[in-house]
Amino acid sequence: MKQRLVILVAAAVCAALWSATAFAGDQCLTCHEALDDAQSKLFKSDIHFRKGLSCVDCHGGNPKSEDMEAAMSKKAGFIGVPKGDEISKICASCHSEAETMRRFGSQMPSNQWENLQTSVHGKLSTTGKEHILQCTTCHTSHGIVSVKNPASPVYPLNVVKTCSKCHSNAAYMRSYNPSLPVDQLDKYLTSIHGMKNAKGDAHTAECASCHGSHDIRSAKDVKSKVYATSLPATCANCHSNARTMKAYKIPTDQFEKFSRSVHGVTLLQKNDVAAPACNDCHGNHGAAPPGVESVSKVCGTCHALNADLFSASPHKKAFDDRKLPECETCHGNHEIVAATDKLLGVSPDAVCSRCHHDNESAKGYAVARTMRQLIDSLESSEQRARTLVDDAEQKGMEISEAKFKLRDARQARLQSRTMVHSFDEEKFRDVVGKGIVMASMVSEEGHRSIDEYYFRRVGLGIATVVITILAISLYLFIKRIERSQHQQ
Ligand code: HEC
Ligand code: HEC
Ligand code: HEC
Ligand code: HEC
Ligand code: HEC
Ligand code: HEC
Ligand code: HEC
Ligand code: HEC
Ligand code: HEC
Ligand code: HEC
Ligand code: HEC
Repeated sequence: MKQRLVILVAAAVCAALWSATAFAGDQCLTCHEALDDAQSKLFKSDIHFRKGLSCVDCHGGNPKSEDMEAAMSKKAGFIGVPKGDEISKICASCHSEAETMRRFGSQMPSNQWENLQTSVHGKLSTTGKEHILQCTTCHTSHGIVSVKNPASPVYPLNVVKTCSKCHSNAAYMRSYNPSLPVDQLDKYLTSIHGMKNAKGDAHTAECASCHGSHDIRSAKDVKSKVYATSLPATCANCHSNARTMKAYKIPTDQFEKFSRSVHGVTLLQKNDVAAPACNDCHGNHGAAPPGVESVSKVCGTCHALNADLFSASPHKKAFDDRKLPECETCHGNHEIVAATDKLLGVSPDAVCSRCHHDNESAKGYAVARTMRQLIDSLESSEQRARTLVDDAEQKGMEISEAKFKLRDARQARLQSRTMVHSFDEEKFRDVVGKGIVMASMVSEEGHRSIDEYYFRRVGLGIATVVITILAISLYLFIKRIERSQHQQ
């Protein structure tokens, strides 16, 4: 027992001696501590201090000299107080050198300065002499702590304030980009992300988890983490991570389903930004699920006609009263698939039959059945017309006008698929009717062309026979003349 105590005391003494010698040479810190200035006080909590670094590693000079002038002389490499890009360059002298960082036993990325310079914050500031931000703007100086330390200005609960110092300052932002909104923080605080962040939950999204830290880019830049084609993956970093989301008990399948949906395929595989990304439905900063009554507004920003028809339909009130989420009730939200005629009608796989039965909500049932019959008959008339037109075309007949009308019939079919959303039999019949009339006109023309083709073929046959008979007669006639001349 006693022995162990002796060893412990000896070890403590050794450690104290070692640290005393390690810093004995550091006159910068010794003298500045005596001056009791803010920098040396703060520096005691600085991660660089804890890694054995000191004033000289950023400011230069001779740390061994007790003489103030000698210690802080230009000759000894003292640079004074760095300004502008000088600041970031000092940080980069270690942080951008993987080899240097490794020497300190660090495996950290070494791309911060490189990324910062190519980011939107790497543009020149209004002075025209330096970048908009330096490392110290976000990390401070002399009290720098690990980014995982709750005291760090870039820790999730603090970063919102760090970014908003500039981004909520209208006068400041106007001096750079008058068209840039300054409402991000206000909106963010209304979102589930923001509300939980304000209450101390460090695991919801904050500015940096959506925008990045050193490589922040304009939202219009295709390399931005919030550019439409990259955004779903940015949200999925958390929302598809079962571990992150475990505590919240909400599904983690949104990205997976979205990727399979007609929207996801259009956006992520065809790179067509006309299709919605997560934020088109959930908002950018005020991210929240659209409430029941606003679903059709969200979808309606792109599918305006469907939304207008729906709003004027009997379903609008019926769904809102029952708290059914409008478009989502029939189409879903993340896994919206291409719509087909199968959705319509009273067969088991039709959506209508989920609520309408022949003995319950029967009017809707009857309308659904009729609508399906109508669209089926338009489909088959169009099919028939197309077959006839193809046939006539193959036989070399001129039918360009009929083909043109066929396009009108197809148009009517597309319109009728939208018109479904009126859930009104008469309006639907109108559109479908036009298509059917058009298709039967095309069919008639097809028939006529094909008849003409056969008529011409028969005509040609008769003419061939007549000509052949004539030719044979002529031959026989000439032979007879020859024979009679021989006989003479
Ligand atoms: C013997 C005391 C002493 C020593 C040693 C010393 N300093 Fe200082 N230092 C001062 C005093 C006093 C000031 C303020 C003087 C002034 O305002 O010009 C100062 C100012 C500074 C400033 C601010 C300069 C400015 O232009 O505002 C920096 C940076 C600095 N010291 C860094 C260092 C570094 C790095 C070392 C070691 C290489 C060091 N000091 C060593 C006493 C010391
Ligand atoms: C990791 C780099 C780093 C280290 C280490 C460091 N400084 Fe600094 N120091 C800076 C930077 C950058 C500035 C310039 C502006 C600022 O404060 O952000 C600065 C500014 C200063 C200033 C001027 C402050 C003012 O407001 O004008 C003093 C004084 C100073 N440092 C003293 C020290 C002393 C003393 C130490 C050691 C205890 C030290 N610094 C360690 C980076 C460092
Ligand atoms: C002399 C080399 C050196 C200089 C100069 C330097 N750093 Fe560091 N910095 C380090 C080392 C070493 C670490 C510890 C790395 C580790 O723990 O893996 C570190 C850690 C950090 C961390 C904490 C990272 C984390 O989350 O653990 C930040 C932030 C940081 N530095 C910012 C700066 C800034 C800002 C400047 C410039 C004002 C700067 N550094 C200048 C060497 C340096
Ligand atoms: C716009 C604010 C901002 C600026 C400017 C900034 N950082 Fe950071 N930095 C952050 C944020 C936020 C994190 C946390 C990143 C994360 O958790 O992914 C971070 C993380 C770090 C880390 C931890 C390792 C890493 O890369 O994640 C280091 C080291 C670091 N920064 C150094 C620097 C240096 C050096 C500079 C200047 C070249 C700098 N930072 C400029 C916001 C900033
Ligand atoms: C020192 C002030 C300042 C700080 C701090 C700051 N920014 Fe900026 N930021 C700007 C300025 C100025 C611009 C505009 C550059 C331009 O367009 O000319 C900008 C641009 C942006 C843009 C691009 C906007 C667009 O679409 O064009 C984003 C995104 C952004 N900042 C996010 C952030 C985030 C996230 C943070 C915190 C991690 C942050 N900023 C911290 C000043 C700042
Ligand atoms: C949930 C993800 C998310 C969070 C959290 C977030 N943003 Fe954004 N931010 C976006 C998206 C998405 C856009 C717009 C993309 C677009 O226009 O297509 C955007 C756009 C911006 C813009 C460009 C101007 C604008 O408002 O459209 C700035 C500046 C910006 N954000 C700053 C911030 C700041 C500061 C914070 C923290 C208070 C923050 N953002 C938090 C996702 C986010
Ligand atoms: C840093 C992780 C993170 C990122 C990135 C993130 N979120 Fe979240 N999000 C969360 C957490 C955690 C919650 C809280 C869940 C809860 O309380 O139900 C949440 C909540 C939500 C909710 C509300 C869910 C509910 O409770 O009904 C929506 C909607 C949402 N996020 C959408 C998005 C979108 C869209 C993006 C991308 C633009 C995004 N999130 C990015 C972590 C994240
Ligand atoms: C076409 C619009 C649309 C798109 C795109 C979309 N969502 Fe949703 N999201 C919704 C609707 C509608 C709800 C359900 C709201 C309700 O029922 O109150 C929802 C619900 C959610 C919820 C709440 C939990 C849940 O699963 O019900 C989260 C989290 C969420 N979405 C995240 C995302 C993410 C992440 C993406 C991108 C990968 C995304 N959403 C894309 C419309 C959309
Ligand atoms: C940002 C615009 C946008 C938003 C918001 C949007 N969509 Fe779409 N949607 C599209 C685009 C573009 C396509 C076409 C994909 C394709 O077929 O090329 C599409 C396709 C569809 C289809 C398949 C159409 C077909 O012909 O089969 C349905 C169904 C659909 N969306 C329903 C919805 C619903 C429901 C919502 C709201 C929850 C919604 N959309 C929100 C742009 C949007
Ligand atoms: C009561 C069920 C129901 C509701 C509610 C509903 N739809 Fe549909 N939707 C359908 C059916 C059925 C079809 C397929 C029609 C067909 O192909 O015959 C369809 C087809 C579509 C199509 C593809 C046809 C076209 O118009 O291009 C889009 C897009 C669409 N719906 C969007 C929406 C939007 C947006 C809303 C909300 C405003 C909505 N739907 C509400 C049942 C519904
Ligand atoms: C989620 C349940 C639900 C689905 C799915 C649904 N409806 Fe309805 N529908 C209702 C309710 C509720 C009413 C209100 C009157 C009632 O109870 O019959 C209604 C009313 C109607 C009406 C007006 C009836 C009247 O009394 O004037 C028509 C027409 C109609 N639906 C057609 C359809 C068609 C066509 C489909 C499929 C594309 C469909 N509905 C899908 C629930 C639904």
